[in-house]
Amino acid sequence: MKKIGVLTSGGDAPGMNAVVRAVVRKAIYHDVEVYGIYGGYAGLVSGNIQQLNLGSVGDIIHRGGTMLLSARLPEFKEEEVQLQAVEQLKKAGIEGLVVIGGDGSYRGAKALTAHGIPCIGVPGTIDNDISGTQFTIGFDTALNTVIDAIDKIRDTATSHERTFIIEVMGRDAGDLALWAGLAGGAETIIIPEENYDIHEICDRLKKGQERGKKHSIIIVAEGVASGTEIGKQIKEIGGMDTRVSILGHIQRGGSPSAYDRVLASRLGARAVELLLENRGGRAVGILNNVVVDSDITKVLAESHIIDLDLLRLSKQLSI
Ligand code: F6P
Repeated sequence: MKKIGVLTSGGDAPGMNAVVRAVVRKAIYHDVEVYGIYGGYAGLVSGNIQQLNLGSVGDIIHRGGTMLLSARLPEFKEEEVQLQAVEQLKKAGIEGLVVIGGDGSYRGAKALTAHGIPCIGVPGTIDNDISGTQFTIGFDTALNTVIDAIDKIRDTATSHERTFIIEVMGRDAGDLALWAGLAGGAETIIIPEENYDIHEICDRLKKGQERGKKHSIIIVAEGVASGTEIGKQIKEIGGMDTRVSILGHIQRGGSPSAYDRVLASRLGARAVELLLENRGGRAVGILNNVVVDSDITKVLAESHIIDLDLLRLSKQLSI
């Protein structure tokens, strides 16, 4: 393989730039030309492709977002659109592709591989919802952003003796809410992977108040319900005055953490190796601090497993 491409797709995540840098530098190290595809699959279909050199990826390892831009393209499910992408790649002489993103991006990579363009998936999303890896690139940075927000909200919650509901991103997954809740000392964590009982939550809050606890933090994953809805329920059922904070897209930005930069560098470099070994249709990941790769079809078929022991631990520590 002498020419490869790289694209970022779906919701951006801190550390995507560090992956692009690793892909470009690793490929050039092996005398392989690298082409950046700008604007995800939409840019691929329209042929927005430019060669990248060592300097193109200078000064980006510490930057959030993605220098290659990103987009969501639901139409990429259609074979006709996929074949347009294949045409563009063939026209540019690109023989293999590194796709950085979440499960939607992986589905595109799987389809292109089936059409004869070997692709490697690199997990880049703050949601940590991809199978085949314990951690996705961007999760650690987003987690630290959420914890910073929880710490600040706790200050004002303490001063005013209030109950706060903090809504956290994660799409259908509860990882971000769970890890942030545990690390931020939240009294209650509500995630899609475990049923919740609003009456039980209100009882816990009341018991805490009776013991002299003046404020509480409840973390709710967006995949369960909106923070506003949970706040309303707590007010109606428990009679508590609540305040709601929806963290939103602030969770997607910012300079990647050291962990995300290292993970991005390791997985980006491994993705290039797999292409050079002619092993398209794989997705890279990290398992017990070892870089691994799995069949992308299998990764897409399996669900990421959340560690519910963390939820149990959080319940024990926040009594
Ligand atoms: O997948 C990343 C993510 O930030 C999710 O947590 C969230 O549900 C979604 O993307 C938001 O997407 P958009 O930026 O397109 O509104």
